[in-house]
Amino acid sequence: MSAIRRAILAGTLAALPVVAAVLPATPAHASDTLRAHAEARGKFIGTAVATSPLANESAYRTIAASEFNQITAENAMKWDATEPSQNQFNFSGADQIMAFAEANGQQVHGHTLVWHSQTPSWVQNLGADAMRSAMQNHIARVAGRYASNPVLKSWDVVNEVFEENGSLRNSFWYQRLGDSYIADAFRAARAADPDAKLCINDYNVEGVNAKSTAMYNLVRSLRAQNVPVDCVGMQSHLAIQYGFPNIQENMQRFADLGVEVRVTELDVRMQTPRNTTKDATQATYYSNVVKACLAVSRCSGVTIWGFTDRHSWVPDTFPGEGAALIYDENYGKKPSYTAVHDALAGGAPDDTTPPSTPGRPAASAVTATGATLTWTASTDNRAVTGYDVYRGTTRLASSATNSVALTGLTPETAYTVHVVARDAAGNTSANSETTTFTTPAGPGGTGCTATYRLVNSWQGGFQGEVTVKCASAVTSWRTTLTYPSGVNITQNWSSTMSASGNAFTFSNAPWNGTVPAGGSTTFGFIGSWNGTGTPPSPAIS
Ligand code: G3I
Repeated sequence: MSAIRRAILAGTLAALPVVAAVLPATPAHASDTLRAHAEARGKFIGTAVATSPLANESAYRTIAASEFNQITAENAMKWDATEPSQNQFNFSGADQIMAFAEANGQQVHGHTLVWHSQTPSWVQNLGADAMRSAMQNHIARVAGRYASNPVLKSWDVVNEVFEENGSLRNSFWYQRLGDSYIADAFRAARAADPDAKLCINDYNVEGVNAKSTAMYNLVRSLRAQNVPVDCVGMQSHLAIQYGFPNIQENMQRFADLGVEVRVTELDVRMQTPRNTTKDATQATYYSNVVKACLAVSRCSGVTIWGFTDRHSWVPDTFPGEGAALIYDENYGKKPSYTAVHDALAGGAPDDTTPPSTPGRPAASAVTATGATLTWTASTDNRAVTGYDVYRGTTRLASSATNSVALTGLTPETAYTVHVVARDAAGNTSANSETTTFTTPAGPGGTGCTATYRLVNSWQGGFQGEVTVKCASAVTSWRTTLTYPSGVNITQNWSSTMSASGNAFTFSNAPWNGTVPAGGSTTFGFIGSWNGTGTPPSPAIS
């Protein structure tokens, strides 16, 4: 199938920037999604997706589908996922991602065929001939599987083959096969999928430096030998504490070799916690990357490595750093979202209109340490991007929707709160009217905590106990244990009990209500339960 036919079938020409540039752009509106603006500019805007949240979180699916016209599998197409044992292929995660892209009119960038990381030890232990054959077989099977699918547009054929000084990485591939494995991998990929754009991908190659110059020289040399290298991927794992690389100049020199360039794994980390100054710097980095790609006609688009701080590789790898993406952990849009949006839309719109004032929040489900607030949503000339809940000048929580669950509140405390709405340009609404609610005493009474322990369990039942510990002296105590359905408490001691559905409230017995400061008392009970395994623990209030 020709590249143009594949592009038309996929409903986008984003992978063909030179062709796309002569087509009339569809006008986009200021409030449109990222993908609408990117499509209007003949580029893709993409995200890496992980299979678990894709299967389990509807907010994740909704944003991934609506805001991006390109996706990359964060892990599901790597060697350890697709061929964990020799010739035993598993495409469940990869197929899941392909199906999502097909359903949402997105192109897929395959990541990655040959890498030193996330490659099983059975590969690493092979001798030279067997290793070369295993590599060619892997490429044939994995790239070959999606070769006839018009959604699959490109592959990272080799990933991270350079050391920082520009020498070839001393990986097991290099040690066993020398530099020939790179050309062999590209040839095998072309044979497996003749239409896909074939990329070499790396990090720290965004600016002009020793590593990117080595990459430039390798790409030029491979192409001179007719090795099918079509594209250069600049991962772009950036950090605000380091300077911004001269990415446009670097992209342009690769483009001048005749290759496509793309930003493949953009994120911009910071030392956490976030604040407005760091967010603003991060937003500028995102904006600059997108603008560089827009300015280089052979840059096909920008893929962000995830989109929500809820799911990001950064905190696991760089302790103390994170908040690298364009949505926060609750799927609220960050200033970096607005920066990407406005860069794609062609500059910051002149929007100074604030959102309307949100409704007075209503408190419900108030417990000793939590409450739910709900309010009437604001409207905006562009889009409301989220809300902040304040107690005086202290921000208690943020939310992408007109409701939030507050946690970590102090028992027996009055909270007077108000809500402020934000829009995509950073305008904020007036404060809503305030509402006041008071948290009740914690478990057992003022200054007491209740701790549950499973003592014993058997088929059909269990024994539990709760220790009530008090910081200051009390003369009575009370605590409620709420279980999932299927649990019933049939017997108790050292307490009096009342039940309401699955909530069991225990008060002191006549003889153990008095607990001195720093003291504790324990009561016990027998429960029946119709499940198997470990009996469920109760929620304690
Ligand atoms: O799936 C297992 C799970 O079963 C297990 O319980 C858990 C325990 O640690 O690990 C899970 O696997 C993790 C996997 O991500 C999926 O979450 C691996 O440990 C973890 O190492 C792996 O990290 C990935 C990393 O590549 C591996 O090197 C990150 O998600 C992924 O974002 C990252 O992506 C790379 C690009 O492929 C190449 N460029 C750099 C980029 C960032 O490191």
